[in-house]
Amino acid sequence: MSDKSSHDMNLMWGGRFSSQTSNIMEKLNSSIDTDHRMVFQDINGSIEHVKMLRLQKIVSSKVCDNILRGLKIIKNEVKKGKFEYSKKFEDIHMNIEKKLHDLIGDDAGYLHTARSRNDQVATDFKMWIRDAIGDLDLKIKKNMKTFLAIADKNFNSIMPGFTHLQSAQPVTFGHHMLAYIEMFSRDRDRLYDVKKRLNECPLGSAALAGTSFPIDRFLTSKNLGFDRPTANSIDSVSDRDFALEFLSTASICATHLSRLAEELVIWVSDGFKFIKISDRFSTGSSIMPQKRNPDAAELIRAKVANITGTLFSLFTILKGLPLAYSKDLQEDKKLVFSAYDNLSLMLEVMNGMMKEITINKQFLKKAAKSRFITATDLADYLVTNFNYSFRKSHNIVGKLVLKAESLGCDLINLELAEFQKINPDFDKNVYKILSVENSVNIRSSYGGTSPSEVKKRIREWQKKLK
Ligand code: ARG
Repeated sequence: MSDKSSHDMNLMWGGRFSSQTSNIMEKLNSSIDTDHRMVFQDINGSIEHVKMLRLQKIVSSKVCDNILRGLKIIKNEVKKGKFEYSKKFEDIHMNIEKKLHDLIGDDAGYLHTARSRNDQVATDFKMWIRDAIGDLDLKIKKNMKTFLAIADKNFNSIMPGFTHLQSAQPVTFGHHMLAYIEMFSRDRDRLYDVKKRLNECPLGSAALAGTSFPIDRFLTSKNLGFDRPTANSIDSVSDRDFALEFLSTASICATHLSRLAEELVIWVSDGFKFIKISDRFSTGSSIMPQKRNPDAAELIRAKVANITGTLFSLFTILKGLPLAYSKDLQEDKKLVFSAYDNLSLMLEVMNGMMKEITINKQFLKKAAKSRFITATDLADYLVTNFNYSFRKSHNIVGKLVLKAESLGCDLINLELAEFQKINPDFDKNVYKILSVENSVNIRSSYGGTSPSEVKKRIREWQKKLK
């Protein structure tokens, strides 16, 4: 066994052990490859902790200054990419403390007074997620602005609206884009909500029971940007609700992106040709020279699986885990980091791709005009103008559809005489009623697809997203 004071052995708990951890144990136990991403949160947490210890006269000014000096050096090294992480020191907390000891000597040992890695890791993790929330929020907002610009240009571009992926009723492309803006807006609300509940500081809860030192948890909480300290030390170190909420919010947002990605794949397909995705976000085929594949959209469609997977993994880790801290909780970070990385990339790519899509208005409108898409409008017209029951009107229009089908044309191509054969009340107004323009224009109920309504919603969003 090597000399314990050499710090080759584990700095934090080496005193109680007489032999080194095995290599495979080190491999299993070490989390530094993952949690080094919390390095700044960890250093900042330590800075505020030691400042508080000094104010409370728990450590001397000299020790505090020394620690602050050391932490500053470490921060700079990390910023310059010069900090060397070592698996031997398990995780980010011990790597920093070991380095601090190398820099300032035994004064480093005072930093861990009145805290444990259990409250430290919970604090770091919350601060990391808080930053991630800010970043994702910004990326979602960028998408919203891009979608809004598309909606604005296409507030009256008519396309078929679908149910069951069957042409249902004409809508406007702008309206369809606004649907995603609503979804993104809820994603942002959820992120805000996660942050609001998360923002209580666990630091000072120590291992699980609190501490006998006269610490000021309100001060560290405030200085680390939290709203208040957590109120139960056991809960503080075992709670990972905030990570579950984050992953669930990320899963929902990724699901939205995936649904849109699927629509893009459909819209670029030969049968639709509604849009074109730019070269920068398309790929070719190694064998078929004519191919142009929407890989970006397909990968966004698929990547959601990685994110929802992390949510279920964390649920599985937490299920049945007794209070308070167990090492199982160390597995939470890689899930959250990976979900964040995937979602962040998905949002960036979606934004880039959408900024460059071309909308083929002719094809959109042509598709909107097919498949008796305004049949409901004609039935509604009979109800409104001739006081027919809706059932009777439905039946009349049904017969007309049958007729048109037998002639291989759409309703609007039938002669007036054909209409009148089935119902003598029909006049040439039917052609106006059956037009897709009329169909969208009259759907001016609040939140409806009429260009006038869509324009109003666009104006509202423009103000909100400034
Ligand atoms: N690396 C650990 C984690 O991420 C830090 C907490 C360790 N606590 C302990 N009691 N071993 O969970």
